[in-house]
Amino acid sequence: MSVPGNYRSIDFMITPAPTVEAVFELLRAVIDPELGADIVSLGMVPEVTVSPAGDVQVGIKLTIGGCPLRAQIKKDVESRVAVHPGVRTVRIEWGEMTSDERSQVMTKARWNAREHAPATAVPTTTRVLAIASGKGGVGKSSVTVNLAAAVAAQGFTVGVLDADIWGFSVPRLLGIDEPLEAQRVQGSDKPRIIPNELPVARALGTHGKPGLLKPGLLKVVSTGFLVEEGTALMWRGLMLTKAVEQFLHDVEWGELDYLFIDMPPGTGDVQMGLARMLPRTDLLIVTTPALAAQKVAARAADMARRSFLRVCGVIENMSAFTCDHGESYALFGDGGGQALAEQVGVPLLGRIPLEAAVAAGGDDGLPVSLTGEGAAATEFRKIARQIIEEVAPPTNMAGCSARMLNLVAAALDAHDGA
Ligand SMILES: Nc1ncnc2c1ncn2[C@@H]1O[C@H](COP(=O)(O)OP(=O)(O)OP(=O)(O)O)[C@@H](O)[C@H]1O
Ligand SMILES: [Mg+2]
Repeated sequence: MSVPGNYRSIDFMITPAPTVEAVFELLRAVIDPELGADIVSLGMVPEVTVSPAGDVQVGIKLTIGGCPLRAQIKKDVESRVAVHPGVRTVRIEWGEMTSDERSQVMTKARWNAREHAPATAVPTTTRVLAIASGKGGVGKSSVTVNLAAAVAAQGFTVGVLDADIWGFSVPRLLGIDEPLEAQRVQGSDKPRIIPNELPVARALGTHGKPGLLKPGLLKVVSTGFLVEEGTALMWRGLMLTKAVEQFLHDVEWGELDYLFIDMPPGTGDVQMGLARMLPRTDLLIVTTPALAAQKVAARAADMARRSFLRVCGVIENMSAFTCDHGESYALFGDGGGQALAEQVGVPLLGRIPLEAAVAAGGDDGLPVSLTGEGAAATEFRKIARQIIEEVAPPTNMAGCSARMLNLVAAALDAHDGA
């Protein structure tokens, strides 16, 4: 008689295996630190199975196979699920996302980041474009100032943030050396940093009559305005991000259609900081035409994945140079821009030839895109137009009202003149 009773008391002591829903709930505590959200809401857990004896199998899809966070995710999944008393074993079935799934996850991560981003002094209507590359010396700074100037020449107010805190070159490339000033502005208890301003004459033949339309303006901020050129800045990673943070926070940017950010070489802290502070930043990746840039391509794509910033285009720089006799010389190889664009799955916005005028414009502090007649200047202006019209149209122009007003003004002017 005592046997059935014993069985019953053992039944009560064994905790039943968790339900599949309960395991999903536990997994919500596992955060992908790079994507800043839990693995369940990111869609990284396609399946969970639980046997009656408490053996749990968790399917995890990584954004890429060789994800460096794999070991950490494994540890977190095992420890989170194992806390449930009904669990006997935990096994992970690894998988890799398809490119569609990956882009969905990135969209979610971007959305999460935007929800939690701290406030900055950059207006919400500003289109933010960061110019980055997989390696140094490929022309990021030259591309930044030339595109910023060419966009400003279409009548826009364009910020240039030199995020290359150590190796700043924007002041020289734009021929500005005034120190930055701080001023008290209305509505702020602390003095605010006022960017250096550089008016840009409106380019001819763009949207209506030149004299009628407002000129463009560059608003420039760089550590180069705070220290002498050649001064070694011994700043560590944390301070680098702090400096960029301060430029986003404490600069009185005011009205701004675009913000171009010249990224430092390398892929580390500054980009992650930017992703946290301004997650709506779009990346333009600069590459040389060398086909051996595959490694660089992989690094650039990985950099974008880690910071989940959207890559909106590739620009090839130092492309084939054509001499006065029409002969073309591909000094730095051929096809690298196209290969990178295909690998990342974004358009190749242009190929800027290797041309002495680009370097000379940099030395003179006058971007070649403003006045140059050569192929490089023309290509810079073409890319600037693509940015304005397709890649990152200005937010204020969304309803085309500003453009329409310009057209109406031009028409009235033509009428008056007739
Ligand atoms: N299309 C071009 N034709 C000729 N020279 C160029 C071209 N693009 C850039 N250069 C020159 O190449 C050098 C490196 O360019 P730049 O400083 O813009 O590169 P970067 O990627 O910003 O470098 P870093 O990684 O050090 O910041 C400069 O001397 C610049 O004048
Ligand atoms: Mg640079």
